[in-house]
Amino acid sequence: MAKLYVNPNVKKGHINPELQGHFSEHLGRCIYEGIFVGENSDIPNVNGMRTDVVEALKEIQVPVLRWPGGCFADEYHWMDGIGPKEKRKKMINTHWGGVVEDNSFGTHEFMELCRQLGCKTYINGNVGSGTVQEMSEWVEYMTFQGVSPMADLRKANGHEEPWNIDYFGVGNENWGCGGNMRPEYYGDLYRRYQTYVRNYDSKKQINKIACGANADDYHWTEKVLETTFDHGNGYMNGMSLHYYTLPTGDWNKKGSALDFDEKSWYRTLKATLKMKELIQRHGAIMDQYDPEKKIGMMIDEWGTWYDVEPGTNPGFLYQQNTMRDALVAGINLNLFNKNCDRVKMANIAQVVNVLQAVILTEGEKMVKTPTWHTFNLYKYHQDGELVESSVETREVGLEEKYMIPDLTESVSLGKDGRLHVTLTNASLTDKADIEAIFAETPVKSVKAEILTGDMKAHNTFEAPEQVHTGEFTAVSVSGNKVTFTAPACSVLHLEVEI
Ligand code: AHR
Repeated sequence: MAKLYVNPNVKKGHINPELQGHFSEHLGRCIYEGIFVGENSDIPNVNGMRTDVVEALKEIQVPVLRWPGGCFADEYHWMDGIGPKEKRKKMINTHWGGVVEDNSFGTHEFMELCRQLGCKTYINGNVGSGTVQEMSEWVEYMTFQGVSPMADLRKANGHEEPWNIDYFGVGNENWGCGGNMRPEYYGDLYRRYQTYVRNYDSKKQINKIACGANADDYHWTEKVLETTFDHGNGYMNGMSLHYYTLPTGDWNKKGSALDFDEKSWYRTLKATLKMKELIQRHGAIMDQYDPEKKIGMMIDEWGTWYDVEPGTNPGFLYQQNTMRDALVAGINLNLFNKNCDRVKMANIAQVVNVLQAVILTEGEKMVKTPTWHTFNLYKYHQDGELVESSVETREVGLEEKYMIPDLTESVSLGKDGRLHVTLTNASLTDKADIEAIFAETPVKSVKAEILTGDMKAHNTFEAPEQVHTGEFTAVSVSGNKVTFTAPACSVLHLEVEI
């Protein structure tokens, strides 16, 4: 019997809802078709946003959405995407699939989408190929209330009131697709560009995010912080980190999303657990400069990256999603919770039809992926207080190099006054008998839900309900102890009344 120790009296930090954030890029069928179909589409929509997708995203309480990229952001010129649609520039999306980008989804449409979702806005600015003036004017266009050239232009384009920018990214992957820069050079550019990301309304702070490292490039983190550090209070509210989970670790041969074996299962989950080390080591560097943890680690791209589905445009990054992805999501969301003192936002890549998507669409059809179901189980953590917990684990796997702990967990005290336990069992063969002990806290009742299935189980447009959550009743309560069995290959949420 594995013991799960929970001490509700020891609070470890606030869980920002933004830890369950999402990312939307002008890539493949993410924005166009996946979200935006236009007002004249036969697909039911409100102001062009497809209703089925918006409803599904509202159900998981999407807290924040990042846009317009990704690599696309450092080639995006925002003025191309405002004003009458018939006059907007058409161009080739050189990064992604070489398709025509007609700019029919621009700033106004993104803000309308966030309004419908009721989520915070995260705009990623262009440092790689854009000017300081362009960035500064975009911020003015979106947020300035009074009389100014850009505020007047916004009003002329039909939006009288300014919008909120909750987060603003000063460039994306500037070590790569965003300009192939050295960290010292980017650090200097960051100092300059961020100066003109003005907070026009002192009551609505724009949180500025610097481009952080790719995976384990600790040199980047060190040098960017060293270059920018003495730059004054509020110069940086967050620093990003990108880490994708590849089953093979090889970008040229990533492996299939659907056709994989048990070894690949464990290799993938081993790869995803590297996130723990990345948070610790980048966090340790950040601690040197920012011991009070005022600068958030923003993991604004994470998730699985497989070979594209056979027969699809390689530049569209469309992949299916199985129970393996559900486990990847559960393991990472537990890690983010456990490090909520430093990790302040995380955005899975990407929200619809791209990489580890929570939703897939095909024409008018839509399915919720196993990853969507994991987010649905974890949403109760949003805005909760992390409480101390630990679980006894066993090493599981098939190859010495790719052994992993069977269980991960995190526990929060929710806004509803209940304790929320989320737990993953990554073993493909063994259930885990668990005794949860709540220190000095008698338990009144427990309600639980489970997501489980074959490792390759997934939802298709023909069979959209193959994988879904179900009620989990095999839980017994005695005093301050709760016992249950987590089946192999499962994600669980326990709502504990105390
Ligand atoms: O999410 C797909 C791409 O991955 C993004 O555009 C880029 O930032 C990253 O390399």
